[in-house]
Amino acid sequence: MNTPSSNSLINKEKKISPFRIFLLFSATVVFIIFLWTMGSFKEDPFITETLSIQGEALSGSKLFKINCVGCHGISAQGFVGPDLHEATQEMSDKKIINQVIRGLTPPMPSFEIEPQSMADLLAYMHTL
Ligand code: HEC
Repeated sequence: MNTPSSNSLINKEKKISPFRIFLLFSATVVFIIFLWTMGSFKEDPFITETLSIQGEALSGSKLFKINCVGCHGISAQGFVGPDLHEATQEMSDKKIINQVIRGLTPPMPSFEIEPQSMADLLAYMHTL
């Protein structure tokens, strides 16, 4: 039976006010921003460990010759990839580590590397 009262009930259920949509939307946005900031504040154990190690530039230069010169040039002067002489001034060590291990900017690949080797590479890059 379609009584007037059941009709109004149906109508009520169908109607979602724009205000509710707006509320839901902003709640979602706030939640995503929250997750994002939590993520960037979380210390990455690999980075923490790497930064705690004293790197050795000579060993780092060998690693660089094996892994990086193909793109960054034999003396890091830049080739397919950019010149890295200013990299340690322009980027934090953290950012450089991320650049090497995460592969965030193709075509530069991500490298599977030990914290000690990464510390050596960083030490080498600081000598450039
Ligand atoms: C396949 C080529 C390739 C290899 C191998 C490679 N890179 Fe790169 N690298 C690039 C490219 C291309 C970029 C620029 C990416 C971009 O557009 O931000 C880059 C960017 C970088 C940057 C950021 C420089 C800046 O000023 O933004 C650093 C630091 C870096 N590479 C370090 C290394 C190290 C260390 C290695 C070796 C472990 C290495 N790369 C190996 C291609 C490569």
